[in-house]
Amino acid sequence: MTLLRLSLALATLAVSALHAEDSPRLSFDFSLYAEGKYVFERNCIICHGPRGDGKGEMSKGLTPMPRSFREGMFKFRTTPWEKLPTDDDLRRTIKGGLTGTAMGMFTTLNDHEVDAVIAYVKSFSRRWRKEENYAEPLTFPAAPDWISKAETRAPHVAPGKVLFDNICATCHGPNLDGKGPTAPSLKDIWGMTPVPSDLRQMHLRCGDGPGDIFRVLTTGLNGTPMISYGQVLTEQQRWQIIAYVMSKRVEGPPLLNPSSTSQASK
Ligand code: HEC
Ligand code: HEC
Repeated sequence: MTLLRLSLALATLAVSALHAEDSPRLSFDFSLYAEGKYVFERNCIICHGPRGDGKGEMSKGLTPMPRSFREGMFKFRTTPWEKLPTDDDLRRTIKGGLTGTAMGMFTTLNDHEVDAVIAYVKSFSRRWRKEENYAEPLTFPAAPDWISKAETRAPHVAPGKVLFDNICATCHGPNLDGKGPTAPSLKDIWGMTPVPSDLRQMHLRCGDGPGDIFRVLTTGLNGTPMISYGQVLTEQQRWQIIAYVMSKRVEGPPLLNPSSTSQASK
């Protein structure tokens, strides 16, 4: 197994050497890959598995499941829908963790170790070897001044609620608790029933601020039914929905809807 992956890696090295000049991101650094393998085996393999398929020893019963890296699809990004994340996106996930899931914060890894493990994670999927899967990160507007205070947010809450009820409630529920009528029938590309996030909580996986929700609405979460609304909603409408979501927030520890039953479909 390891030998096969090693020879695949060497083949990539040869191929990418040809294209390295026109595309630096397809180039392959073998020593970084080898260091990354070591970091992965010490820190990640227990959940993400030796084959990078998310089936490590600790994965049983976890919701959400540790990500399989074999499809090359990542939820939390600054890049457009369906595109690969940037290294900074992966760095943010690895160093900051994903609140409310088993994916913890790897603050003990130094910058070089994080770069190395990123190179190794990329070796699990061919999507990283095709230029068309890459895109520049999007630029996001600064949050409007009115969004930071409840008083100035107030006039935007009612139009935000109308939009939320029309577009988001079917999955996230009219009470934002993640229990909308279509939630039980959702599927993701990993064959799971993904749980729409409980948007009442202060801490989401994407982050805690209004800009973090704006980013999710703009990019979507690859591989899941949470698509990009960048073409559907104007910027103003996205901020209005966020104003409504913020008006419904309640203090408490982060949850990924523990009371609902998310399970493999097969
Ligand atoms: C204790 C289990 C656990 C360990 C250890 C772990 N992860 Fe994760 N990881 C998860 C889970 C669970 C998810 C899926 C979270 C989700 O889908 O919301 C995840 C998701 C990810 C993602 C996908 C993020 C995205 O945007 O979709 C990356 C990248 C990742 N982990 C990298 C790593 C790396 C690198 C390490 C080791 C340094 C590591 N993980 C160690 C449980 C773990
Ligand atoms: C078709 C169902 C569906 C619709 C419609 C939908 N979502 Fe989602 N949303 C989901 C699912 C499922 C997830 C979790 C995906 C995962 O992690 O696998 C999610 C995740 C999110 C997250 C990420 C939160 C976190 O944990 O970081 C935000 C924010 C969000 N949705 C907001 C919205 C808003 C606002 C709307 C309306 C504009 C909306 N969603 C419409 C299904 C949906």
